[in-house]
Amino acid sequence: MSSEITTTTPIHRPRRLRRTATLRRCCVETTLTVDDLIYPMFVMEGEEQKVEIASMPGCYRYTLDLLLKEIAEVYHLGINAVALFPVIPEANKDDTGTESYNPEGLVQRTVKAIKQAVPEILVITDIALDPFTTHGHDGIVDENGVILNDPTVEVLVKMAVSQAAAGSDMVAPSDMMDGRIGAIRKALDAQGYIDVRILAYSAKYASAYYGPFRDALDSAPKFGDKKTYQMDAANAREAIKEVALDIAEGADIVMVKPALAYLDIVRQVKDYTNLPVAVYNVSGEYAMIKAAAQNGWIDEKKVILETLTSMKRAGADLILTYFAKEVALMLK
Ligand code: PBG
Repeated sequence: MSSEITTTTPIHRPRRLRRTATLRRCCVETTLTVDDLIYPMFVMEGEEQKVEIASMPGCYRYTLDLLLKEIAEVYHLGINAVALFPVIPEANKDDTGTESYNPEGLVQRTVKAIKQAVPEILVITDIALDPFTTHGHDGIVDENGVILNDPTVEVLVKMAVSQAAAGSDMVAPSDMMDGRIGAIRKALDAQGYIDVRILAYSAKYASAYYGPFRDALDSAPKFGDKKTYQMDAANAREAIKEVALDIAEGADIVMVKPALAYLDIVRQVKDYTNLPVAVYNVSGEYAMIKAAAQNGWIDEKKVILETLTSMKRAGADLILTYFAKEVALMLK
């Protein structure tokens, strides 16, 4: 069959390379693997209990015994790292978050237990005061409601050292105070924890996408909002400024949070630095997919894979995601 070449016959036909599944596999630019995933998990006091978080179907607050079983299971599925978030009983909260550096606190006990039960899995611990303060802010608040930077950093440093002493592999400051990465790095080094890594929440936005997470921890701020420390969604250059400072202060990995609405920031950060870039696929992003899927409005598995692949395409090397276990099962 010969066909006539006309002026409308294109020379370039990109569809040629999309013709078969084999060809498409050959031309894939981005691959999502289980190695990319970090699983955020919630731990609470007590025994033999797991409680589903209403706004995060499929996510639970676990007591330590059940958390250990779950961690053994996810490690077996190939997940390399978990990020821990504690549900602190009201009775242990105060104005300045002193429970955060209690050597026998929930986080410290949990880290020790994980490192005994599943020593190979990487344990990442969060650094911020909000789970530990009565007011729910990430820092110390003065009588006028102002978040005090430097006194907060002093507490964050104690928290980091106590987590390192408990065996944390990586500390992850999510508080957005100025200068905290440098202060934490110096303190860790001075105490001999030179190999404890810092995953810096560098460009963390004041986002409405954190709603379900605050339900999970009962940590919503009791007054005001977090806009004097977390960033404005409208800003991109400011993200690079924050990333630059965290790198200069000693961050090992930088993070952009949330992920989905901020993929342009992820790309800019990726182009800016040679450090690994992490993103946090946050609770509200998870809840939106779950809710639509429960209504039968989207194909859940396909949407999850498309979303996380897009994060990698934007430049993410690591993805903190509540979908980690599901994705590990899907990729098996
Ligand atoms: C608090 C913290 C938050 C998240 C992680 N660490 C919430 C906040 O800043 O209020 C949100 C995670 C999520 O929404 O999944 N330091």
